[in-house]
Amino acid sequence: MSKAFPEGFLWGGATAANQLEGAWNADGKGLSVSDVYTFDVTTPKARWLDQWLGMTHQQVAEAQDPNSTKYYPKRNGNDFYHHYKEDIALFAEMGFKCFRMSIAWTRIFPRGDETTPNEAGLAFYDDVFNTLRQHGIEPIVSLSHYEMPLALVTDYGGWPNRQVVDFYVRFATTVFTRYRKQVKYWMTFNEINCVKHHPYVSVGVIEEDHPNIEQDKYQGAHHQFVASALATKACHAIIPGSQVGCMISYQILYPNTCHPDDQLACEEAQRVSLFFSDVQARGYYPSWAKRMLAEKGVVLKMAVGDEEILRQYPVDYVSFSYYMSSTISAHPEKLQGATGNLITGGIRNPYLETSDWGWQIDPKGLRLALNQLYDRYQKPLFIAENGLGAVDEVNPDGSINDDYRIDYLRQHIEQIQEAIADGVDLFGYTWWGPIDVVSAGTAQMSKRYGFIYVDQDDMGNGTLARSRKKSFWWYKKVIASNGQDL
Ligand code: BG6
Repeated sequence: MSKAFPEGFLWGGATAANQLEGAWNADGKGLSVSDVYTFDVTTPKARWLDQWLGMTHQQVAEAQDPNSTKYYPKRNGNDFYHHYKEDIALFAEMGFKCFRMSIAWTRIFPRGDETTPNEAGLAFYDDVFNTLRQHGIEPIVSLSHYEMPLALVTDYGGWPNRQVVDFYVRFATTVFTRYRKQVKYWMTFNEINCVKHHPYVSVGVIEEDHPNIEQDKYQGAHHQFVASALATKACHAIIPGSQVGCMISYQILYPNTCHPDDQLACEEAQRVSLFFSDVQARGYYPSWAKRMLAEKGVVLKMAVGDEEILRQYPVDYVSFSYYMSSTISAHPEKLQGATGNLITGGIRNPYLETSDWGWQIDPKGLRLALNQLYDRYQKPLFIAENGLGAVDEVNPDGSINDDYRIDYLRQHIEQIQEAIADGVDLFGYTWWGPIDVVSAGTAQMSKRYGFIYVDQDDMGNGTLARSRKKSFWWYKKVIASNGQDL
């Protein structure tokens, strides 16, 4: 059985504008929801919500004050904005075939509701894409990666407001037109299913302000589905041969026991994520959605024609992030206080090891995920994110021996090989954070994923110098051998 990766397989790395670009107020850029996310040393696991609770317009204004003493790591990222030529050259040295990145909406439309784009923002990405192309690297671009314009939240109430669909489609159409010759692969919304964990950054809803948060989450998601379908339509019209994908955060879930109740709970929990890719890949709400939404007290408002739009413009491919698996029990008291998974609070799986941040490492879960998603959709798949956040030690000679990262990567690639041998149609793999970036969840710089080290600490101190870790050379040989030399 051949375990060869297909010819032309897209090996590379994935990033998001708000976690690496920095330059948060340069060249006309507006504030995004991520620009007001602080890092607080006393609560290093600061949640998005802490930043939003009771936030007033005055506080938003304060957040714009460059002299503020609060530290906002996502305003600085790793300063890719001023280092992109050097960074892309390092990606090229590793042999990257592709680079996944996002366009910061606020560089193009600073508030989100303008009718004319910001030329300086457009010019920046022109040069990034040209630089990638000069190195033979295919850009894969997310339109929205936890960085919607803050004004769309404060002045419009976020995605539950239908007007945001029009703003998004204007943004999408603008960048499709501008970059039609440079970008073929697009993703409409990063981890669209993560609205369940952090509605503030996903759909721009501040939980405490909304008595029926479930209603707002799913109404916001419905508008994103429509926006995604309309963007897919526009992309195909503007860029012949373009490929548009959805993107979900996917975890394999295991029942805690073989009791049928645990199996049912597990199935139900898995559907909470699959709901999102079902709508985008199949073009309609799954049969069980009616009951699921009713049980959450959600009554969706659909405009005339919405269902037709979803049906006509499903995505071309399905992409997902995969970091871990989780274990589900039908008994809520077992879920409480569970330590297996920091994101979803699932139960600890005794057969798996965890990362420094408690994420359960499960390479075989990736093979399962690939098979499940391919069986379900029969559309090409793309692994948009996979990676290990760890604490790296810099040796006195400057070297960084991140064997743990190499082991993680090797084990996951082996399972991808198995999935390809199983018959899964997979066309690419992008490691999360090939260069150290600010963490999405904790805003720490010390939660490092990179093959390239960036000299910067959690409070933004450092020279920003880039250096190669041991994994840099390892990934380079993997790419050179198209996944055979592990
Ligand atoms: C994914 C996000 O959920 O996980 C990324 O799409 C994020 O933006 C990545 O950085 C890893 O999560 P974290 O919290 O470790 O940065």
